Amino acid sequence: MRKPIIAGNWKMNNTASEGAELVKALKPLVKDAKCEVVVCVPFIDIPAVKKAIHGSKIRLGAQNVHFAEKGAYTGEISAAMLKEYGVQYVIIGHSERRAYFGETDETVNKRTLAALAAGLTPIVCIGESLEEREGGLTEKVLDKQIAADFQGIEDFSKIVIAYEPIWAIGTGRTATDEQANETIGYIRKRMKKVYAGKNVGRMRIQYGGSMNAKNAAGLMAQPEIDGGLIGGASLKAEEFAKVVNYNK
Ligand code: 13P
Repeated sequence: MRKPIIAGNWKMNNTASEGAELVKALKPLVKDAKCEVVVCVPFIDIPAVKKAIHGSKIRLGAQNVHFAEKGAYTGEISAAMLKEYGVQYVIIGHSERRAYFGETDETVNKRTLAALAAGLTPIVCIGESLEEREGGLTEKVLDKQIAADFQGIEDFSKIVIAYEPIWAIGTGRTATDEQANETIGYIRKRMKKVYAGKNVGRMRIQYGGSMNAKNAAGLMAQPEIDGGLIGGASLKAEEFAKVVNYNK
């Protein structure tokens, strides 16, 4: 079965000490969580957060990784660097990286393969813009990302996809339960076709975009939705804990 996975994406929020305080407050609140719980933190927060989550169920994630093993890539971080610190998950291809930092399907694919090679679990983000949804292009856009972002992957049980409709990110405008379920169902069906025989049935697909304490239970009750990637609502321990404990 597909174990639910709730991950916080702190984006560029929380200094190392703020991040450590946040996870210290989070620890007791999520100790009985039935799902996998992950916090994807800024690189510089990793050591402090790692120390603070010790002995808990909370797992450590990063927000990007470079595809080269090492070399002249100023400002980048390699998979081995993350791995050495006990990072287990890494977000790749977030729409903010695609929109503001020139991330392309090609670089998303390369970063994903590098993360897998190092034994990290990539959380690969895909999703359409508002114009694309309103223009009836959602499936076409997803088809293109599906064809390009996952080339060369042999075992899809080792990756997580985050379906994040761009129009729902940070806008307070969540996809309805049915919309999210239907689109994630479409992604799974399409991936099973394109990557047949590669364990796609065991791959988890999260929903992301203004998911919070109020709407988590409804979204998570949908059969296709295996988890959430949470931005704003992951920045307060109590709010994030309510998302993690959606089934209580
Ligand atoms: P919000 O939850 O703030 O809408 O952000 C979603 C997101 O981009 C998670 O990666």
